[in-house]
This record gives sequence, structure tokens and C-alpha cells, in this order.
Amino acid sequence: MNILFAASEAFPYIKTGGLGDVVHSLPIALRQLGDDVRLVLPAYRDVMASMESLQDIAWWDLPGVGLTHRVRLLLAKPADNDEFVYLIDVPALFDRPGNPYVNTEGQNWPDNAERFSVFSRAVAQMARGIPGSDWVPDVIHAHDWQTGLVPAFVSMAHPRPKTVFTIHNLAYDGYFSHGDFNSLALPPEWWSPQHVEFHGGFSMLKAGMVFADRTTTVSPTYAREICTPEFGYGFEGILKHLGDRLSGIINGIDLDIWNPANDAFIACNYHFSGNSATERKKWQAAKAENKKDLLLKTGLLDRAKAATTKTGAAAKAEAPLLGFIGRLVEQKGVDLIIEMLPALLTESKASMVILGTGDHLYETELKKLAQQYPDRLHVHIGYSEAFAHRIEAGCDLFIMPSRFEPCGLNQMYSLRYGTPPLVNHTGGLADTVTDTRAETLKNRTATGFVLHDLKAQSLLSTVIRAIDVYRKPSQWAQICETAMSQELGWDTSAGKYQALYREA
Ligand code: ADP
Ligand code: GLC
Repeated sequence: MNILFAASEAFPYIKTGGLGDVVHSLPIALRQLGDDVRLVLPAYRDVMASMESLQDIAWWDLPGVGLTHRVRLLLAKPADNDEFVYLIDVPALFDRPGNPYVNTEGQNWPDNAERFSVFSRAVAQMARGIPGSDWVPDVIHAHDWQTGLVPAFVSMAHPRPKTVFTIHNLAYDGYFSHGDFNSLALPPEWWSPQHVEFHGGFSMLKAGMVFADRTTTVSPTYAREICTPEFGYGFEGILKHLGDRLSGIINGIDLDIWNPANDAFIACNYHFSGNSATERKKWQAAKAENKKDLLLKTGLLDRAKAATTKTGAAAKAEAPLLGFIGRLVEQKGVDLIIEMLPALLTESKASMVILGTGDHLYETELKKLAQQYPDRLHVHIGYSEAFAHRIEAGCDLFIMPSRFEPCGLNQMYSLRYGTPPLVNHTGGLADTVTDTRAETLKNRTATGFVLHDLKAQSLLSTVIRAIDVYRKPSQWAQICETAMSQELGWDTSAGKYQALYREA
């Protein structure tokens, strides 16, 4: 089948979070299964600059706010691969620096409604084929609110491809005002509760759900959770109403990019290749090297001091090192980590490395804590692929106490790197991590630690529980090895998407 993926980000061209990873890795898996998957993205400035060449394919005049945009469809040639990437070029909307969604102050670009409605209209122009070629999509697979209007616009084409809409995060609903609805020149009949109207305004995410032939989300547990008021953000009724048209398919990860055996970002490569004492020693030694490298690079271990006071350095290497990577937002439970840290750093010998960007309040509080505990807490405010890989390889325990988590990728990267994740029991975290208990140790299924009560105190006691197990080297090694042996690739889930496309 011919599948057109429409999204607002895709690794390696532009990425702010897990959406970018999935839009990169799922097409690769689908291509291996025989589908022809092509990608369409907005022509952001950085994406345009990263391409080896660009070819004009078509021009369209499409309505924006109070004017008609001259929209150019480009076929881009990426620098390092032969993926088919189409770009929707509207300089007034996408030729700007930085983040695709927010300005340097962290505020949404004020014209986001126009940016992503014009993008979605342009994608719908591709529904009946790519001009100048015989490639016609059988399915258009749109992702998150930025492309929620794609299934809506495509519904107006006859004949038309089928549409699949994936919700990666219901908390971002693409909600705009009635005024925006009018100024975007959307079909007036869409202004109804059965269509896009939502609490006095309209939601592009809702458009995706109600117009798509099939709606999915990124884990089975989250698919159930979003049909309840606690997780549904007011969409629960609509989602429940979808019945069989809604399903949850767990994300996979890119096993080539997240592979400790050949990861170029880390100090020492390793992999788990079977239960033997020699094999165990090998990966443990490599992980210890990565930990030391991370401690030195973050300054948690002072190079000069480490050279002279061997015992201090040894103690640091033995003390548990915790890691966190992610957007610093309420979803990720960053406030719980902040609240827990002073007690953890006082009551235990653990250290922690944190990498992220997000809410300025959290950034400030974390930086303050790092100043207070300079040799125990390292906080890097920023975005760094390299550092993310080093944290996965160098830490002992990965902390992810998300309030909700549609799927979550970092806990899977942690499993792959033998860094047991400590997670809240929600969404994809519940579907991918098995708590360490007497019976899961006995039947060798334990892969991490699961928190059932979202309070800083419970987070602290779960971390302490994990540290207690960390002190039992053979139990800990078993957990790491079970984690590293998990099937985390796309094989099964890509097959499920393929089945869904055919069913649609
Ligand atoms: P979400 O999509 O909700 O942000 P996921 O766990 O699904 O959460 O995916 C997050 C992705 O973004 C991972 O690949 C993670 O490594 C990456 N990431 C998040 N913040 C940073 C950062 N500051 N630096 C590097 N990578 C980051
Ligand atoms: C979202 C979710 C995250 C998920 C990612 C990729 O950003 O917050 O849980 O892993 O999308 O699907």
C-alpha cells in the first residue's frame, strides 16, 4: 500500500519529543513490511536548510487568514537517506527559526491555527496523488492536533484515500476560538458538536477523531484511559463513541539508533548476549565505564579529585546514579522529582542527572537545587541527543513519574540500555515496565519499578526501594538483563498498523 505520513515533526529533520521519533521509526518498519511510506512535513527553516536538494512539484493557492497563500509543494532529498520527504513551503508561516510550535519565550506562535490549517489543507491536496507522478496514497496517516484537519479536508475529496489519525497526546488539543474558525474559512457546517466544535471554540484534535476512518493512540492502556473523565480532557464521550474505530497500538523504538552495542555517543559499547558470568561481567564493566564518563562529564565527579582520592571516586562510582530526560512539564511529574530531591539527597548517597527544557518555573527550581547540591545533582537545561544517549547508558536507574503517559519512549530506551526505569503506573509506562516484586524476580519478568501513588513521598520510597535492590548485585544484574532482553522494536506494532490500514 501507499501510505502518506503527515506530521509536524520527524527525526532527524526536526524533533521536539517522542512524536518525532515515531514518525521516523514507524515508516522504516512499515517499509520493511513492504508498504511504500512517504512523509510530508511543514517546510520549517531548519528542515529546508538540512536537505541536500529540493525540487518544485506543485503550487496551490490556499486560504489562510484574510488572504490566500501561495503554497509550494517540494520534494526534498535528505542528506543521509533516500526517504521520500515532501515539504509544504509557505515562508510566511514556516520560514522562522527554532521550535516548530513556540517562540523563544516558550509561547505558542500566535498564528498556529493558521499555520497548521494551511498545512493540513495542503496535505489534503495530495489525497488524489502527487502532481507529476503516478503515486497516489491509499491511506493518509495523520498525527496529533497539528494534522487533525487533514482527515477533515480529505473527507471532502471523492474518491479519497482512507485516513488514520493517531493521538500521541490528548493534552494538546489544538483548541482555537470561534473567531479563528471563521477567519480560517473552514466549512460552516463543521461548526457543530458532531464535527469540530468544542466547548465554545473548536479543536483540531477533535477534527482528527471525528473525521478519520480509524483513530489510534500509542498504547492499549492509554486507549482505555482516555475514555474516562480522569484522562479524557472532555473528549472521553467522543472517544467512547468511536467504539471499534479507536484502538491502542504500543510504540516501538528504533533499535539502530538506540543500540548500546554501536551507539557512537557513549564512552563504551555493550550488549547483553546471553546468561553467562563472563557476559555479565562484560556489560557490567562497560556500563561502569559509561557511568564514570557521565560523572566526569557532568562534574559530579571531579577529575582532579578522582585522580588523587581514589576512595572518594570509588564511593561515587558505587553510589546509585539516577537519570531523567524529558520535557519539563507537569505531565512528566517534574514537580514530584523537585519535591523529592532534597530528601533523597539527604537520606541516601544517590546522585542524579537531569536533562530537559520546558516550563521556566521548573527550570529555575531545578537550577537552584543543582546549586545547592553541586556534587550530587547535575541539571542541563537544553536539548541534546548526545547527552540523552549518555544518560541512558551511564545511569543506574531512570526516573519517569509521569502523571499520564500515552506511551513514553525513554523508559523503553532505558530498558534497552540496561538502566531499569522507575515509572508511574499509567498509559504506556504500565504496558512496558514490570515492577520488581518477589514473584517477578522469581519468574524473571521484573524490569523496573512501578509507582502506584503519585506523591513525592511515594516516589521517594519507591526510589529507596529500588536502591535497596541495587545493593543486591545479582538481583540487580538479573533485572538489567531482563530489561535488555525485551522486544522493543516495531515488528509487532508495525504489523498492527498494517492490518489497520487494510481494514480501513
Ligand atoms: P514526549 O513525546 O511526551 O516528550 P517520549 O518519552 O515519548 O515523551 O519521547 C521523548 C523523546 O524526546 C525521547 O526521544 C527523548 O530522548 C527526547 N528528549 C526529550 N527531551 C530531550 C532533551 N532535553 N534532550 C534530548 N532529548 C530529549
Ligand atoms: C507523545 C506522548 C508520549 C509518546 C509520544 C510518541 O508526545 O507524550 O507518551 O511516547 O507522543 O507517541
